Amino acid sequence: MKCKMCGGKAEIRLRAYRIQLCKNCFRVFYERRVEDDMKKYRIVRNGERICVALSGGKDSIALIHVLNKLKDKFKISIEALHLDLGIGAYSSKAESICREVCQKLDIKLNVVRLSDYGFRIEDVDVKKVCSVCGNAKRYLMNRFTRENGFDALATGHNADDILTNFFKNWIAGNMEWIDKQRPRTEGFDKIVTRIRPLFLRTDQENSLYVESINLPALGIKCPYAVVDKWRRIIDDIEKEIPGFKQNFVRNMFKERKKDQKKIKHCSICGEVSNVETCQFCRNVMRFGKGKIKH
Ligand code: AMP
Ligand code: FES
Ligand code: ZN
Repeated sequence: MKCKMCGGKAEIRLRAYRIQLCKNCFRVFYERRVEDDMKKYRIVRNGERICVALSGGKDSIALIHVLNKLKDKFKISIEALHLDLGIGAYSSKAESICREVCQKLDIKLNVVRLSDYGFRIEDVDVKKVCSVCGNAKRYLMNRFTRENGFDALATGHNADDILTNFFKNWIAGNMEWIDKQRPRTEGFDKIVTRIRPLFLRTDQENSLYVESINLPALGIKCPYAVVDKWRRIIDDIEKEIPGFKQNFVRNMFKERKKDQKKIKHCSICGEVSNVETCQFCRNVMRFGKGKIKH
């Protein structure tokens, strides 16, 4: 098995792209993809100061590393923000990983503690701890980013996250939610601009990238995490249809033509057709006896 890029020994098989790469070429491949998407979707603007939300998990570690690599090309500057949510040993481990990574990359790390606002997630005694936590994360990230004069907040949301959320919201009929997950959403009022540079990268790609750059990432799951059946479902679809996750997310955000196309009719039978002679008439001419019923 040879690496498609350098011809060396391939270690990674990417079914979605139908290629095999060595670890080193995978790193280059990944960074190129993120760079291309950042250009194509105009995710950042020249001179922006970006606040990178760093949880310590593989996605945000991948994010901060790749943004740090691309920062000069895009003329941006970055700082990290870690939220200490007050989840016992899980939070301490996450914070120490963020410290180690930021020290290695020479990036300023800011830490905001939920306890400074009066409570910790481990004190929350309701059934849906995650939704209280999600709300606290969005609130604190937004407020910190705005109050410290950043131009945008970057998060490590990936294609798996966006797709999972899409299905959940679709079933619930919240179609307007799709727009909120775009690669870049502009701020308004007290809400800051949000960017998601890894929106087309999968769980698998982010894990492989973090491995290829030799940085630590939080290996343990939050104790409140629940098994998400949607993740399993989209993984099963991806197994059957490699590339499904990325194609789906890419198409979710494709620019849609606003005005309706002008309706045209087939010049032979008069039925609706977007070409001069409709497919049916062409088939009749091709396979039939040449007679067309009008
Ligand atoms: P999650 O909401 O856990 O799926 O995480 C989505 C993204 O939110 C991560 O990739 C991070 O960018 C950010 N994030 C989550 N938890 C934290 C945290 N404790 N501190 C800073 N950023 C976080
Ligand atoms: Fe918030 Fe798990 S990280 S509940
Ligand atoms: Zn290679």
